[in-house]
Amino acid sequence: MTLRSVTKVFTAAPSRDGDGVDLRRAFPAADLKDLDPFLLLDHLGPTPLGPGEARGFPPHPHRGFETVTYLLEGEIEHRDSWGNHGTIRPGDVQWMTAGSGLVHSELPGETLLREGGTLHGFQLWVNLPKLDKMTPPRYQDTPAASIPVVRNAEGTVSAKVVAGETLGVKGVIDTRIPILYLHLTLQPGARFEQAIPKTSNALVYVIEGAGQFDEIEASAHQVAVFDRGGEGVRIANPGPSRVSLLLLAGEPIGQPVARYGPFVMNSKEELLQAVDDYQQGRMGVLG
Ligand code: FE2
Repeated sequence: MTLRSVTKVFTAAPSRDGDGVDLRRAFPAADLKDLDPFLLLDHLGPTPLGPGEARGFPPHPHRGFETVTYLLEGEIEHRDSWGNHGTIRPGDVQWMTAGSGLVHSELPGETLLREGGTLHGFQLWVNLPKLDKMTPPRYQDTPAASIPVVRNAEGTVSAKVVAGETLGVKGVIDTRIPILYLHLTLQPGARFEQAIPKTSNALVYVIEGAGQFDEIEASAHQVAVFDRGGEGVRIANPGPSRVSLLLLAGEPIGQPVARYGPFVMNSKEELLQAVDDYQQGRMGVLG
């Protein structure tokens, strides 16, 4: 397998969003506006929280793309303007196709708020092709128990398959375009290769430890972006401690991106329509 090279490595800057959620926004950032089809990646926490300290994302709309929430610790209670409601717990993934639009809140679960704890997770935004932007909203609420975790033959690499396929195991979540979303853990000395279609864009986000990608090293909170010059990527852990990371790859959509806050469409006119639909309550109302 020919291997892709890393074109850039940069560090996700600490930031804050919602009503005071500490996070690192990997992109959009000065170093990377987006990586078609990926529009945004936030690393939430890990933030230790005392009783009553947990914060979240009060009601806000979305249209034209998908939000993927993957939680490692804590809990997020989700509620939307069409009556959907649920709690995302550690290991769970919520793959939400906002499509034509909804208003939702993502707030700390009752236990996390009352007792405190740690909030730690990720939110990824995946763009939708023009034809799917106005599809009815859809949820794939996927509990940890339904998400496959696979190990290599040596037992030195574990992969949680959120989407796509690795080591002969397929994820259970449907995606509109081909997406690979793996949470990989490499023990010291481990090496891992993953085939990725030559047409797809790919990046890694390092959660913990330091890994080697091609010849380039990246450590916790760093993003490494791959070129499209090979059939796959090689990830190694040359260090003394384990490395944990997200490997994301997706088929670029290749259409114009018009973006305004929580709306991602193809043209300015469609954005104005989205703002109007939201303000007129056509995405529903969350009381
Ligand atoms: Fe949201």
